[in-house]
Amino acid sequence: MNSPVMQGLNLQAPGYVKNAKLIAWVADMVALCKPDQVYWCDGSQEEYDRLCQQLVDAGTFRKLDPIRRPNSYLACSDPSDVARVEDRTFICSQKKEDAGPTNNWMAPAEMRATLQPLFDGCMRGRTMYVVPFSMGPLGSPIAHIGIELSDSPYVAVNMRIMTRMGKAVYDVLGVDGEFVPCVHTVGAPLEPGEKDVSWPCNTTKYIVHYPESREIWSYGSGYGGNALLGKKCFALRIASTMGRDEGWLAEHMLILGVTSPEGKKYHVAAAFPSACGKTNFAMLIPPKGFEGWKVTTIGDDIAWIKPGKDGRLYAINPEAGYFGVAPGTNTKTNPNCMASLDKNVIFTNVALTDDGDVWWENMGPPPAHCIDWQGKDWTPEIAEKTGAKAAHPNARFTVSAVNNPALDSDWDNPQGVAIDAFIFGGRRSTTVPLVTEARNWVEGVYMAATMGSETTAAAGGAQGVVRRDPFAMLPFTGYNMSDYFQHWLSLGKKLQASGAKLPKIYTTNWFRKGEDGKFVWPGYGENMRVLKWMIDRIEGRATGTEHVFGVSPAYEELNWTGLDFTRDQFGKVTSIDKAAWVKELQLHAELFQQLSYHLPAELTETKAQIEKRLAA
Ligand code: OXD
Ligand code: MN
Repeated sequence: MNSPVMQGLNLQAPGYVKNAKLIAWVADMVALCKPDQVYWCDGSQEEYDRLCQQLVDAGTFRKLDPIRRPNSYLACSDPSDVARVEDRTFICSQKKEDAGPTNNWMAPAEMRATLQPLFDGCMRGRTMYVVPFSMGPLGSPIAHIGIELSDSPYVAVNMRIMTRMGKAVYDVLGVDGEFVPCVHTVGAPLEPGEKDVSWPCNTTKYIVHYPESREIWSYGSGYGGNALLGKKCFALRIASTMGRDEGWLAEHMLILGVTSPEGKKYHVAAAFPSACGKTNFAMLIPPKGFEGWKVTTIGDDIAWIKPGKDGRLYAINPEAGYFGVAPGTNTKTNPNCMASLDKNVIFTNVALTDDGDVWWENMGPPPAHCIDWQGKDWTPEIAEKTGAKAAHPNARFTVSAVNNPALDSDWDNPQGVAIDAFIFGGRRSTTVPLVTEARNWVEGVYMAATMGSETTAAAGGAQGVVRRDPFAMLPFTGYNMSDYFQHWLSLGKKLQASGAKLPKIYTTNWFRKGEDGKFVWPGYGENMRVLKWMIDRIEGRATGTEHVFGVSPAYEELNWTGLDFTRDQFGKVTSIDKAAWVKELQLHAELFQQLSYHLPAELTETKAQIEKRLAA
């Protein structure tokens, strides 16, 4: 009777759950969603293995070859459920202006009335999993707790990898602790006797956030950011509004540590839009010429940053795992990531090889035959003829951070790490130089606010179109974008007034192309050369060259040992084309027009100064 399984199947909360608000909320949600069973996850290995086996039995998971890929699984989703659905994502603040022009909005009462009939009975025939999780180290002053109710066991096992999930969360929560309630359903109730499909979902989808009451409601999708609600929904959209209200930052940033040969350590947080090599940068291996340097990963996607007592900004990675894009990852682009994927991985929408392993485009030589992510035969010949991809371009791996050989020793430090520099980097084939340092905080905020990035075919959009992606937060800021800019400006001003040394701000672009249409900068590990220049600037060892937008390195200021990169090539990635910049500033003007409500005056003033310098 008292085994965890029996206890889990009980509609009663287990004895260790003492939070009255939580118990009442689960009872309400059970009454609404009408699951057949409620299962309270404890986060144990035994539970993970059992749920994975259950997913195998249901046909959702396929267990991979235990020698080639120990303790790993492959899930293939419904072809209609393969990515985040930005057009179905809503910020339901009381006032439309508080969601701002970059978010879809609906009044909370109207949205609640829309969702009520959809959630009524949505879990019939299924089990409701109660998933307790901490975003950030348990009990850290920077961390926060969420509880996800989901009818997807795939979500439960992914959440165990992606967050600190399990019983211990209830100890932190206590009797009256706060949590963010997250309700998720695949939106596919089962009639009595109805056979389930391997990837239940619904063509109707809603990813809904109520920032004022800090709630998340997700309907109809079982995939990634739509369903693993700790990630984009909580750690970015809801947390950004919490940060605005409480004086901290929730950012779409990786966090890395850089240690010099002398043993001095620096911490950098970097924001890149999707498909700009973020995971590669977070796991960078220093190239030849950088013997003794070490780069270590604290986080690969999200940073929560709070001011410490000393006025410095301290960052944690709120996640505990990586939900990364598989295609394009290989031993050249990211050896540390490939090593992380050796065992204990959940793969979604990659291809299955004939020997029970996985493959994706650009992983290595293609197999002679495999089963593609849609369960069809795939061969290089078929691909040549039809263009069929073995793996979906947004295929993913879910893996624990502890698998990463370059994991930073402070990755789990509840106090976080003090940030020395912020980087904002888009994908631009022209115009934007390799690296520029902002002369001050306001100029840095301007650079981040006006950041643009070219869409890629992999991201599903048209190729080469520049989309403005302020702070790489376009789909993730849970409130008005201009208020978000103001929050950054105000926080900087406040910290500066307290006498604190603010992190330096940089903008980078690894993606300039030559006349031949090829990337000029080699990227990957070579980005270390730029990172080292930033450290030299922090230490006052590099003077840089000042130009209209900020400060960039002279050729001599980068360490070129081990790389044949000529002064002429350097010119190609750093040159400033005035005519292109006049056009670029017109695009900034368009963005500012769109964001004119509450747009901070400092940003329009900064733009005017740049224009003046450009015209001089
Ligand atoms: C992600 C994204 O999946 O930014 O991390 O799209
Ligand atoms: Mn991301």
